[in-house]
Amino acid sequence: MAKVLNRKTILVTGGAGFIGSNFIRHELESYDDVVIVNLDKLTYAGNLENLKDIEKKYGLASLNLKPKTQDLRPDLRYFFVKGDICDRNLADSLLSGKYFKDKEVGQGTHDARLMTPDSIVNFAAESHVDRSILDAVPFIDTNIKGTQVLLEAARIHWQNLGSGTRDLIPNVFLHISTDEVYGSLGKTGEFTETSPLLPNSPYSASKAAADLLCRSYYKAYNLPIILTRSSNNYGPYQFPEKLIPLMIKNALERKELPVYGEGLNVRDWLYVEDNCRAIDLVLRKGNIGEIYNIGGENEIENIKVVKLICKILGEKAAGDSRLDELIKFINDPRGKAHDFRYALDCSKIKKDLGWKPVSKFEEGLKITIDWYLSNRNWVKKVVTGEYQEYYKKIYT
Ligand code: NAD
Ligand code: DAU
Repeated sequence: MAKVLNRKTILVTGGAGFIGSNFIRHELESYDDVVIVNLDKLTYAGNLENLKDIEKKYGLASLNLKPKTQDLRPDLRYFFVKGDICDRNLADSLLSGKYFKDKEVGQGTHDARLMTPDSIVNFAAESHVDRSILDAVPFIDTNIKGTQVLLEAARIHWQNLGSGTRDLIPNVFLHISTDEVYGSLGKTGEFTETSPLLPNSPYSASKAAADLLCRSYYKAYNLPIILTRSSNNYGPYQFPEKLIPLMIKNALERKELPVYGEGLNVRDWLYVEDNCRAIDLVLRKGNIGEIYNIGGENEIENIKVVKLICKILGEKAAGDSRLDELIKFINDPRGKAHDFRYALDCSKIKKDLGWKPVSKFEEGLKITIDWYLSNRNWVKKVVTGEYQEYYKKIYT
């Protein structure tokens, strides 16, 4: 039993989204002693399709938790909970173990204490800049209020823990932030972890607010907080409202490829698996109270990204060398909120934790394009009526 109790139980919020689902897969496939509780509201961006393989391999395969069957499945290490991070009762119930006790999962092989998270990795967020400009309200609710609910629940629960075996596993509240909180750069320079926060969109402002709440909970209550701020991720399971998957989808459908302004804005692309490795390292070895920048070292102008996608797709699948004729420069829907360039100084995570990105952009992009080509049904499934409405608002 002692061995079992030494398992690491992570409450991952927003685990049905792009980075969260990749992170859950990374953790469960890399470690035998990790248990994941995935709390996700399943907004338009969250999709259980992203974790179908994981549910089958490590989960109960349904939301109907069946008390007796878990004894047959000692490998049961993944639990999905549909819910909102703004729901304080639910957060309390998950952090105290009550949630699973009530569902009688805490019987037999799977002691309820196993499902009591010792760490939280907070991915849950409204994450798309364009949507935040259309309507900031859900960004304030989830990104700011939701983060505060989790911080408060963690504070109350972790402060009230008595001494026991579980306390041997240190608590960590890892909040996933973004390089966008630093605002925009000109042609040169890099942000360090101590650069001022100068967000320009409701999305980045809500993320910056959450970062400051995290800081205050560390200072005021000594809550064991760590923050990561990463650059633009790309890879499998990214919702096709973001630049790379949107361009792949549209090119395959021979639709216009809408490039904002002249396409000269620069992003630093980070392959999602490189980010998952970094987050894992920060969770296990990061210093409490610290912030870690995570960049891809792949700075490139948007127009070059889009042309590269056209070239790779033309070679691989479309049998069409003129896909770039679909490119259409459109009025920038972000206006002054469109950050020109992001670039991160990542010397801290490299020096302190020995991490560095390993994926070269063109290689990562080819893998990503292959994934979208093999998973056209996934794209069809996640693109709902809501997506069509949103698309019309931004692009027509
Ligand atoms: P995503 O939009 O793909 O996924 C967000 C997930 O959060 C979805 O599964 C959604 O259902 C869930 N969610 C939303 N509101 C919720 C709520 N109130 N309660 C519970 N779940 C809720 O986002 P992503 O691209 O995977 O980003 C994950 C995190 O990483 C975000 O915090 C984002 O700010 C940050 N980030 C993203 C990038 C990037 O390039 N994608 C870069 C840096 C930081
Ligand atoms: O930098 C980290 C951030 O990266 C994360 O915090 C955000 O959650 C994530 O969405 C991403 O934000 P961006 O706004 O940089 O990503 P997006 O893919 O939406 O846009 C990338 C660039 O491409 C940006 O300069 C706008 C441009 N663009 C985007 C779309 C969707 C276009 O030119 N056309 C498009 O249709």
